[in-house]
Amino acid sequence: MSDDRLKTEILNADVDGIARAASLLRGGALVSFPTETVYGLGANATDNHAVARIFEAKNRPQFNPLIVHLPSLEAVEDYAVLEGAALDLAQAFWPGPLTLVLPLKPNSGLSKLVSAGLESVAIRVPAHPLAQELLKEAGVPVAAPSANPSGRISPSTAGHVINGLSGKIEAVLDGGPCDVGVESTIVGIDPTPVLLRPGGLPIEALEAALGGPIATRQESATITAPGQLSSHYAPNAMMRPNAETTIAGERLLGFGHVEADLNLSPSGDLVEAAANLFQMLHQLDEEADTPIAVSPIPDHGMGRAINDRLRRAAAPRG
Ligand code: TXA
Ligand code: MG
Repeated sequence: MSDDRLKTEILNADVDGIARAASLLRGGALVSFPTETVYGLGANATDNHAVARIFEAKNRPQFNPLIVHLPSLEAVEDYAVLEGAALDLAQAFWPGPLTLVLPLKPNSGLSKLVSAGLESVAIRVPAHPLAQELLKEAGVPVAAPSANPSGRISPSTAGHVINGLSGKIEAVLDGGPCDVGVESTIVGIDPTPVLLRPGGLPIEALEAALGGPIATRQESATITAPGQLSSHYAPNAMMRPNAETTIAGERLLGFGHVEADLNLSPSGDLVEAAANLFQMLHQLDEEADTPIAVSPIPDHGMGRAINDRLRRAAAPRG
């Protein structure tokens, strides 16, 4: 991939470094930055293509939804509904190592790839001073998973980030080691608070703020293990992946040089296809409920994550 030839800039934790990181993020580049938990791999959360590149850089075989990082509680209202117990937790622990999964607001402007097509979005306001300054200066919401290749442990220094992702991202903002070293605690609201992933904010602190025990989601329709979603966005229409040709009544979601109702990437670019996937599935689903055939997608690089999602969308539903 051409990304392997990127020269990854190491930016200092000063005014110039922050300005450079912010402008790279606004322009659609990938920038790793420190939070108090671990280093994040950031991209402008409103930019489909930039978000798709996160999955490519990490070589993630699945489109897990990502956490959107914002500089303040006040900034949340453009993107998600924050009220009741969620607002109490936000007021108690933000900025800090807590992520809240909240109802996504319509017209949030966030890339659908950020929330993997779901109606909810994970939001975090990190406390690290560099993260704070970067998010304020960037002026865009920043989607960021941990800045490690898929399957490797989360990075707590800029050196770890370079070891894993050098050549695949534009820059890393070097803020020294992270204090907490484990990912944020994730709480969903369903409609009462549910612990989805234990992390840097102790459960005891959550329970003290809530005035009682918090439920832990072991298994349900949507989550099978902390941090793992089993049920994903799927269109209502029937899906038929790996379709060389369409059959009567089907619409075609194309890839490459084919005549199609919508085309994920006419030039056969897998990153572009990933960037378009959720938006185009939603669009086809809104237009009609006739079956959707999808052109074959090569099963390498980003193609693996795309095929994973298409298989799930095509699976029988109970
Ligand atoms: O400390 C952290 O949380 C770090 C730093 C960089 O902020 N980020 C991080 O992101 O750990 P990541 O991508 O490794 O974990 C995000 C997890 C997903 O795997 C998923 O379990 C959960 O957040 N998540 C995100 N959006 C969700 C949603 N809409 N519904 C349920 N869970 C969601
Ligand atoms: Mg991670």
